[in-house]
Amino acid sequence: MKRFCSIILALLLITIAVSAQQPYVPSKENLKNRELFQDMKFGVFIHWGIYSMMADGEWILNNKNIHHEEYAKLAEGFYPSKFSAVKWVSDVKAAGAKYICITSRHHDGFSMFGTKQSTYNIVDATPFKRDIIKELADECHKQGIRLHFYYSLLDWGRSDYYPIGKTGQGVGRTEHGNWGDYHRFMLNQLTELLTQYGEIGAIWFDGQWDQPEDFDWRMREIYDHIHRIQPGCMVINNHHLAPVEGEDGQTFEKDLPGQNQSGFSATATIGQLPLETCETMNHTWGYSITDRDYKSEKGLIHYLIKAAGNNANLLMNVGPRPNGEFPDIAVERYNAMGEWLKTYGETIYGTRGGFIPPQEWGVTTQKGNKLYVHILNLKEKDIYLPLNGKKIKSAKSFIDKKPVSFIMEGTGAKLTFGTIPDDIDFVVELELR
Ligand code: GLC
Repeated sequence: MKRFCSIILALLLITIAVSAQQPYVPSKENLKNRELFQDMKFGVFIHWGIYSMMADGEWILNNKNIHHEEYAKLAEGFYPSKFSAVKWVSDVKAAGAKYICITSRHHDGFSMFGTKQSTYNIVDATPFKRDIIKELADECHKQGIRLHFYYSLLDWGRSDYYPIGKTGQGVGRTEHGNWGDYHRFMLNQLTELLTQYGEIGAIWFDGQWDQPEDFDWRMREIYDHIHRIQPGCMVINNHHLAPVEGEDGQTFEKDLPGQNQSGFSATATIGQLPLETCETMNHTWGYSITDRDYKSEKGLIHYLIKAAGNNANLLMNVGPRPNGEFPDIAVERYNAMGEWLKTYGETIYGTRGGFIPPQEWGVTTQKGNKLYVHILNLKEKDIYLPLNGKKIKSAKSFIDKKPVSFIMEGTGAKLTFGTIPDDIDFVVELELR
């Protein structure tokens, strides 16, 4: 009997190993969702958890070396009296964003949804007792906003997140559990997230960088698990590396694709999957009471345009306050982005990065035979567009459809303006043939 069991076990392990090596073939609905994802162009990232009560970002447990058992007691006081999924989704719509990515569980290990895998969650551990993820999901589905779940791979509280990674070393963990249990816990939570909240656009992983690069996370099993439950659900992993088999999109943290100003993107070479760049409005992802240094309206709009010109989506973060409201400044900024998009949305939504790569003066986006030239920063009265030999059928200013003068030169064209354009974004609409 013992021998029989070991043979079965060996066969099982071989099957798992073989299936882990199989190339991933995305389903039809997955490929469709990748297109839809790229068409949406703009999403709102939401970092919210019990850390918002400490009002100093989402890493406070680690940064202040708080004992994790003491930190967990925050949950008993978490009562976000002003939380309204209706208001959040309306704010997101007013921003002109098409999807939300919310922290279902961050590195502190607290689940913002009614999980059955641990009582350390918003329903069981707080007086609020409401599954805000459920309320948000219902509202998103009602108002036509796609929903993505941020999910932390690392956990600063659980003993089975062992070996402990680079972070969270001073939070008083002494017990050592079993990694296999942790892996199962994650699979079970993902099952809940993918079966109880309707259609989910993406699972957005974070924290893989906590372990050495050769650490075996058994990610492929996790990815396959997700695709088995919702084949259309995209898998995006903020591991700061080139994409790997089983993923459906690639995200860049605080950087446009190909750049590395954040220091996170050194090895993140651009792959073939849909791209996204994530950034936060001020300096932290979770709410910070001392940080009112929000990016300007112009800066945020430029970031969105530059992301689009780099063929990427922008996922722009807000950290709601402990009472459940978005900070007023964030709402103002989102509204400004939304106002701009009301006029210029056509040049962003549904476009792809233009065939002319990003330039000093700005970027291009394209849809069909239309090329939108976004002039963000020009010092002269003309620009040269390398058109690879393509011809211009018409050139006009997007805003008032007035003709823009041009002459063909070499394999491109020179556009000339009466005065140096100084709009937030002066868009020239070119029809090519
Ligand atoms: C980093 C941080 C994390 C944040 C994420 C968003 O990986 O660890 O707090 O959620 O960036 O991109």
